[in-house]
Amino acid sequence: MRGVRVGYTFSARADCVEESGIRKMLGLARPGAINLSIGEPNIEPPANVRAALKRAVDENRSTYGPSGGIPELREAIAAKLRQNWKEARKENVVVTVGASQALFAIAHIFYERGDEVLVPDPGFFLYGAHARIHGATPVAYRLPAENGHRPTEEDLKAKIRPKTRAIVINSPSNPTGMAFRKSDTKLVSDLARDHDLLVVSDEVYDELMFDRRHETFLCEAEKLVYINSFSKTYSTTGWRMGYAAAAEEVAKMLSKTTYHMLACPPTTTQYAALEALKPETDGFVKKMVQEFRERRDLMVKGLNAIDGFRCPNTDGTIYVFPSYKFKLSSADLAMKLIEFGVVTVPGFNFGELGEGHIRICLGARRADLEEALKRLGKAAEALK
Ligand SMILES: Cc1ncc(COP(=O)(O)O)c(C=O)c1O
Repeated sequence: MRGVRVGYTFSARADCVEESGIRKMLGLARPGAINLSIGEPNIEPPANVRAALKRAVDENRSTYGPSGGIPELREAIAAKLRQNWKEARKENVVVTVGASQALFAIAHIFYERGDEVLVPDPGFFLYGAHARIHGATPVAYRLPAENGHRPTEEDLKAKIRPKTRAIVINSPSNPTGMAFRKSDTKLVSDLARDHDLLVVSDEVYDELMFDRRHETFLCEAEKLVYINSFSKTYSTTGWRMGYAAAAEEVAKMLSKTTYHMLACPPTTTQYAALEALKPETDGFVKKMVQEFRERRDLMVKGLNAIDGFRCPNTDGTIYVFPSYKFKLSSADLAMKLIEFGVVTVPGFNFGELGEGHIRICLGARRADLEEALKRLGKAAEALK
C-alpha cells in the first residue's frame, strides 16, 4: 500500500502557534510517575449529573440542537448569572464546547489583524495563541509574584496603546492560584471604560475559592464577555461544556460563529449540564472546594518545608505555583523532576514571569501528593 504524502504547507495561522507545553509534559510521564501536570480535578462527577447524562442517552436526546445551546440550559445559566447580573436573560448566554471554544470564538469575532490584546503574564497559554491565530499581537501585562500575582496600575497604563483592543482576565488564575481583589476589578474596569477596551473575563475557577469571596467582572466591566465552564466546578473536563455571557448582539454573533465551527454544542451533554446547575449539586461543589483547600494546605506547607522551594498560599483553583532557588531554567527543573518521578509544568509556558516557577496541579490523591512532596524533597537535596 502506498503511504500518505508528506511535505504539506500549512497556513501561517495554524503554523504560528506551538503545541501546548502542558500536553508535552503529559507525554513525558513514565510508569510510576506522579502526574501533577494536567489541570483536572481527579474527582468523580456528581452522581445526579452522571445519571442525567445516561438518561439523556436513553431518552435519545441525540439530535442537533440550537447553535447557542438548548434554551433550558441557557435559561438555567442566566438564572445563575442573575445573582450578580440582575438583567441576565437566556438571550445573553451561549453554550460552548468548554471555555476553550468560547475563548476561540471570542478571538474570532473581535480581534483584527494589527490589534493588540492584553494577556496575563503569568497566564493561561490559550489567550496569546488565540490572538496570534487571528492576526493580533498578544501584549503581556504583568502579574508579578512580589505583588501577589496581581496587576499594577502603572504597568497596565503603560501597556494600553491606541491599537489595544481587549484585555483578557483570569481570576482566580491558572497557573498562580491567585485572585483579584475588588480594587483590581475596579482598576481594570475603569481603564477599560476610559480606553474603550473589551474585557474578556475567564472565570472558570470562580467556585474554587478557599478563603475569600470571588470578585466577578459581571456588572463591573462595561464591554464584557464573561466565560465560565462546567469542566472544573463539576469535574467534567472531558464532557466539554462551557458558556459565554455578554450583550445580546455579542451572544448572537458567538452563536452564528458556533454554527460555522461545529453546528451546535453536543445536545446530550447539555442535559447533564442542566442537572449540574440544580441545587442538589451544591453539596458536591462545597465538598470539592473543601478537598482542594486541604490539598492546597498540604502542598503549600510541604513545599515551604523543602529548602529550595517557596510557595505562597493561594486564593483558589487547583494549582500552586512555587518559585525555586536552584540555578536551572524551569524547563530543566521540570525535566529533572521527571527523573525523580514527578511531572509538573515548567513556568515559562505561562509567560516570561512564569520563569523561575513550576506549576503543580492538585488533582491527585492526597497520598500521591504526599509522595510527590517526598520526591520533590529528594530532588531538592540532589540539586543543592
Ligand atoms: C483558565 C482556564 N480557562 C479555560 C480553560 C479551558 O477549560 P474548558 O475545559 O472549559 O475548555 C482552562 C483549562 O484548563 C483554564 O485553566
